[in-house]
Amino acid sequence: MSIRTPLLALLPAGVLAAGLGLSSTRLVDNGLARTPPMGWNSWNHFGCDVSAQLIKEIADSMASSGMRDAGYRYVIIDDCWQVARDARGVLIADTLRFPGGIKPLADYVHSRGLKFGIYTDAGHQTCQGRPGTYGYEQLDAKTFAAWGVDYVKEDWCYADSMDAPTQYAKFRDALRRSGRPIVFSICEWGSAAPWTWGPRTGNLWRTTTDIEDTWGSMLDNLDISAQHPEAARPGAWNDPDMLEVGNGGMTDDEYRAHLSLWAILAAPLIAGNDVRTMTPATRDILLNKEVIAVDQDSLGVQGTLVSEHPPEHQVWMKPLADGSRAVALLNRGTAPDSIAASWWRLRIRGPAVVRDLWAHADLGTFTGRFVAVVPPHAALMLRVTPAKP
Ligand code: GLA
Repeated sequence: MSIRTPLLALLPAGVLAAGLGLSSTRLVDNGLARTPPMGWNSWNHFGCDVSAQLIKEIADSMASSGMRDAGYRYVIIDDCWQVARDARGVLIADTLRFPGGIKPLADYVHSRGLKFGIYTDAGHQTCQGRPGTYGYEQLDAKTFAAWGVDYVKEDWCYADSMDAPTQYAKFRDALRRSGRPIVFSICEWGSAAPWTWGPRTGNLWRTTTDIEDTWGSMLDNLDISAQHPEAARPGAWNDPDMLEVGNGGMTDDEYRAHLSLWAILAAPLIAGNDVRTMTPATRDILLNKEVIAVDQDSLGVQGTLVSEHPPEHQVWMKPLADGSRAVALLNRGTAPDSIAASWWRLRIRGPAVVRDLWAHADLGTFTGRFVAVVPPHAALMLRVTPAKP
């Protein structure tokens, strides 16, 4: 992948938006997702095995584990909750798995101080063959609003011959007309360059195919989503897909790198593990407030790759609102090695304080550069604060 100029990352979002031809009046502008959305989604761990009971238990665990208070607010049911439409065309939830329907479940999630999200598909059917929203945009938006839905993810299966910008704009307008503030998550896997039209259509748009719980897949999604930093801004974010942290396919070092890099990208942080049974190590990763603060920084700039030599030793940088920089030293290789972050690459002159966001410790004041040995398949996550701005 190519290295993005750090200057680009330092430009205000408005300038970047103007460069993209996105005047502020054309952005989705529903006032939501001013920082990247955070929450939990059923798909990565549970697939189609969803039920009201599961979602209630997850909501309870989100509250009791500290996830909610760390910012993970949206509890989202992915595919397979829906089975049919009634005579009026209203979507019907699986009555065995969701005995009272969706509204009481949304109420339950809200009663735990959380927000409620749901999944549909812009095509004729969802990816798992359930009824899709095509032709029912107004009705589904109205139904979701009546149920108390706060977030809708709209997928792109069975939509082959359709035009993605047109279909997603249709549902954006239907959601707006519903009168309820609803975060709109576009999920067409980057197939029709959503970074060009996504900012005026949704609050987030998937840039990639589905993540898998492997180091390679995580890096693939990182590299693809990193190609479009100019599109991200408060209210509109590139989405490299949901987190796999805690699902068992990667080491804890790899999961720490996963969260660090998603934070550098200002990516949505949608956990995808079983929060009811997460280990203390998983909990510590997902609840690292200093890393979350990087993701949620109010400047809203997506970080970029600023150096790679050799290619498996990378330095990523995200400028933050207080003038500091979040810096990830990423070792993609298979042996421990030292990685250097040069101050000129970070656009820092003079001394700067370096803090390790996983060790929660200040490492000292450095001039010119910072060098550290990084284990294989791991990232060091730093906050570098210039002594003088
Ligand atoms: C697609 C999406 C996934 C998930 C599944 C559900 O593959 O990209 O995130 O929603 O569909 O079927």
